[in-house]
Amino acid sequence: MQTKKKRSLNSNPSSSDGLDLDPARLPHHVAIIMDGNGRWATRRLLNRINGHQQGADTVRTIIRTSREAGISILTLYAFSTENWERPQIEVNALMDLLKKFLKSEQQELMDNHIRLNAIGQINRLPDDVRQTLHETMTLTRENNAMLLNLALSYGGRSEIVKMVRDIARKSVQGEIDPESITSECIQEHLYTRGIPDPDLLIRTSGEMRISNFLLWQIAYAEIYITETLWPDFSKDEFIQIIKDYQQRDRRFGKINSQRRSLKVREH
Ligand code: IPE
Ligand code: IPE
Ligand code: MG
Repeated sequence: MQTKKKRSLNSNPSSSDGLDLDPARLPHHVAIIMDGNGRWATRRLLNRINGHQQGADTVRTIIRTSREAGISILTLYAFSTENWERPQIEVNALMDLLKKFLKSEQQELMDNHIRLNAIGQINRLPDDVRQTLHETMTLTRENNAMLLNLALSYGGRSEIVKMVRDIARKSVQGEIDPESITSECIQEHLYTRGIPDPDLLIRTSGEMRISNFLLWQIAYAEIYITETLWPDFSKDEFIQIIKDYQQRDRRFGKINSQRRSLKVREH
């Protein structure tokens, strides 16, 4: 049986009111490109690895805040397929940090009923990291208050390549009729199978690019880019960004009067 810890948010699952958010307009799925750890460290004449360590604290804060705000899915871009090409010492430090992070967060994930999932080329992760990842996913698999989706060794293009190969194989084997391939069929063959697309995509540290993140899934995501470097990203700024999102007019290619009449018809 789980014991309820003091910092568990379970007793107040929709506490977005306390954060002054509109619960009816919360983004269901928030995805974040956590960028700027290296610059944060370099500006302080520190080693880039110190930046990643500091960034891990921000990850904790943002997971907690997401849960508190009542967000259902949080996807964090932690390591890209391209990041393998960084100096080995930095890659090793990131892998080490990831393993320590997972170990240290297991209890917090349980206390707050958060399920962990991973997307990406998980088989490329070192054995010990992969083992800890699987252990944490297994431990948290029944949790249903929030999904924490970590993009690890993730690349949008390699995800698409994998999807095409899987569908092509099934077509050759006669399992899938090429004429019946739809957007839904493609979605079913992505790492994010069963997970709705992000509503809000945040990138820290000011770069105006996607860097191979969720290429298919962000078709209609609202984008917010902040100059703040990831280690400096705070609960307050995160909440401000969600408030900004809540003011946006998501038209999905339609015009406003169509959206209004749709709403009238729905009710
Ligand atoms: C993001 O910070 C973390 C990872 C990509 C793993 P960076 O390490 O990219 O930091 P900058 O962009 O060099 O400042
Ligand atoms: C994107 O950041 C990947 C992650 C945040 C994990 P990068 O620092 O790798 O992206 P680029 O090189 O600036 O495009
Ligand atoms: Mg970067």
